[in-house]
Amino acid sequence: MVVAIDGPAGAGKSTIAKEIAKRLNITFLNSGSFYRAITLSLLASKVNLADEKAIIAHAAALDIDYVNSRLVLNGVDVEDKLHTDEIDANASRVSAVVEVRHIVNDKIRKITEKISIVCEGRDMTTVVFPNAEYKFYLDASIEAQTMRRYKQGVSSMSLDEIKAAIKKRDELDKNKAEGSLKIAPDAVYIDSSDLTIEQVCEIILSKIQI
Ligand code: DC
Repeated sequence: MVVAIDGPAGAGKSTIAKEIAKRLNITFLNSGSFYRAITLSLLASKVNLADEKAIIAHAAALDIDYVNSRLVLNGVDVEDKLHTDEIDANASRVSAVVEVRHIVNDKIRKITEKISIVCEGRDMTTVVFPNAEYKFYLDASIEAQTMRRYKQGVSSMSLDEIKAAIKKRDELDKNKAEGSLKIAPDAVYIDSSDLTIEQVCEIILSKIQI
């Protein structure tokens, strides 16, 4: 069984997807962490992010794995290094490279082949798992997105700066050549702006029959 959840940055996808996976006793996968890990490695190796060929060659040579819902890059657990402002600012353009998306999508499909899973990202409901049993689009107002990112306490930016960065990122994510963020026609749309985590989980769980 695949439960696929898409939506913009700061809509609460990770929190919700993790909770749903826990309650259903199945695995949680955050597809954004794959793009973040590739970005981490590109930045560490000082690859020119304007050079698509260099990005693709670098990404293709990486050993990316996902163990216990944590991203393992070349044998090292990098999960706790993926949410810096620098990675936030650059992961979107890295994820816009079509070949990088193919590398990530192949990896995710392989990892999830034989297990039941809750996957969240931008194109889980549309490209990666178009036949997922359950699809959700989790939305939020820009104010709610900004407050959620701010409360994560991982950014050194002001509220206004966070808002501007999220707007820019969502704009990029919605305008990619492949895997752009959009609402799948068969997805359940949930605006989580004024809902608690519990309320969103209840809506999602009420649609899932196991
Ligand atoms: O969900 P996130 O903020 O951790 O995602 C990090 C970046 O990766 C974000 O800019 C969007 C991109 N992404 C994507 O293009 N496709 C996905 N399925 C997941 C994330």
